[in-house]
Amino acid sequence: MSDVPEPTRRPQWTALENHRTDTLPQPDLRALFADDPSRAERYVVHVGDLRIDYSRHLVNDETLALLQELAVATDVSGLRDAMFRGERINTTEDRAVLHTALRAPRDAVIEVDGENVVPGVHDVLDRMAGFAQQVRSGEWTGHTGRRIRNVVNIGIGGSDLGPAMAYEALRAFTDRDLTVRFVSNVDGADLHEAVRDLDPAETLFIVASKTFTTIETVTNATSARSWLLAALGDEKAVAAHFVALSTNAEKVADFGIDTANMFEFWDWVGGRYSFDSAIGLSLMIAIGPDRFREMLDGFRIVDEHFRTAPAEANAPLLMGLLGIWYNNFHDAQSHAVLPYSHYLSKFTAYLQQLDMESNGKSVDRQGRPVVWQTGPVVWGTPGTNGQHAYYQLIHQGTKLIPADLIGFARPVDGLSDELKAQHDLLMANLFAQGQALAFGRTAEEVRADGVPEEQVPHRTFRGNHPTTTILATELTPSVLGQLIALYEHKVFVQGAVWNIDSFDQWGVELGKVLAKRVEPALTGGADVPGLDPSTAALVAAYRERRK
Ligand code: F6P
Repeated sequence: MSDVPEPTRRPQWTALENHRTDTLPQPDLRALFADDPSRAERYVVHVGDLRIDYSRHLVNDETLALLQELAVATDVSGLRDAMFRGERINTTEDRAVLHTALRAPRDAVIEVDGENVVPGVHDVLDRMAGFAQQVRSGEWTGHTGRRIRNVVNIGIGGSDLGPAMAYEALRAFTDRDLTVRFVSNVDGADLHEAVRDLDPAETLFIVASKTFTTIETVTNATSARSWLLAALGDEKAVAAHFVALSTNAEKVADFGIDTANMFEFWDWVGGRYSFDSAIGLSLMIAIGPDRFREMLDGFRIVDEHFRTAPAEANAPLLMGLLGIWYNNFHDAQSHAVLPYSHYLSKFTAYLQQLDMESNGKSVDRQGRPVVWQTGPVVWGTPGTNGQHAYYQLIHQGTKLIPADLIGFARPVDGLSDELKAQHDLLMANLFAQGQALAFGRTAEEVRADGVPEEQVPHRTFRGNHPTTTILATELTPSVLGQLIALYEHKVFVQGAVWNIDSFDQWGVELGKVLAKRVEPALTGGADVPGLDPSTAALVAAYRERRK
């Protein structure tokens, strides 16, 4: 492994650098379309229900071919196949990376250490489905015999963002008689606000934690138990009101949750790749097992596409390579994801963990410091709101910000006719933004509108802001699964080319360790030995004000 060349030393990398400076020094989307109008049709890939248009990128056929050559040289497909086979490609944690097994069909065979993991996946899914139905039907009752009407998921990171995002995304498919909330922050205000209007006798807590050692989750779960017991006054109530989602049965039992009420997953599922495992239980209760399975089918469509589609029509591969083009050859620092759907309000926050925890790395798989840029800053909020906030900077600022625009041909069911009619206006904005970003407005066009000369520079849009437009018919469970798998594999492709381990997250450990060291100084007033002067001064200022 140590003889793996750094990506920047590969001739394919140099070829892309030369192409950037010699052939496309000043890429101009107007000119690219004028030279080749067919790119509007040719630079489109279809996967499942997704139509992915990448024609508004600062690329031509040669760029795409060179990017594909880089993918071949860095053996993206070899690593992909190793992942799907269950090899331990997460080398720093010595683990397989098999979130794709979570949506494999019942008859698939995927082995880890000689054992087929698929039957276990379906056993848990079946148990989840049984439990979800019991809650939805009212058969599962609380300690006092009352029906469960509230579900509170307690988890953080991958044990929160996925189900919370998907619950919002699929609200139209949820049982509206159930109240479903998500508590993640160790700030007590989070739990306080989540439960303040709930009746403990009707509330189910789902404690979601892969490790069951995460301080925020264990602390919030402990406080939730106190809240419950303060009302119900009987330790035995915990069994009816708490279930756990975890890989760690021992810690679950230590906490006091019966392991019969635990839904397991496995160390080959990374936290940020886990929401289609048991971690999705809150979502399954909300939308029902059938819809949840439709979502898994959607994931699977993209998994199969990623595994088998030819490189030039492989959507995650193309999206990953286009990101590399800007990140590594145009000095772009960030990537915006802009869904034109209110229901996708948490989608970009979810992608932040997926992308930034995966590819925010500065050593390669061999432990060598990287001398090339790795993961971008991912950000964004739903359109049209962002248009009235930060789009100005994308249009006329000095930074290159590639963006994904995501939209749907139809609004979800359930809106009044008047609200449904607003959908065309929403989508008109998506199309207009993509157009303005790509083609801008030249000084001549501005002058032709009679704008006074001194204002012309201010009203000129340089354009050439690259976007991918992802269009689907409707936001269904399957389409949500397709979208998530698309981004999971895009992130994979980039990590493979950058030769980094996209599946560890050592970078979040230091803060956790230091928080544990500092906390006694805040609560007990004890001195923390060896505290640096800067932190010591902050702690002193805090203590002073806390009195
Ligand atoms: O932020 C670090 C992290 O380990 C994430 O990868 C994970 O999703 C999150 O913490 C929560 O971890 P757990 O599910 O073990 O509580």
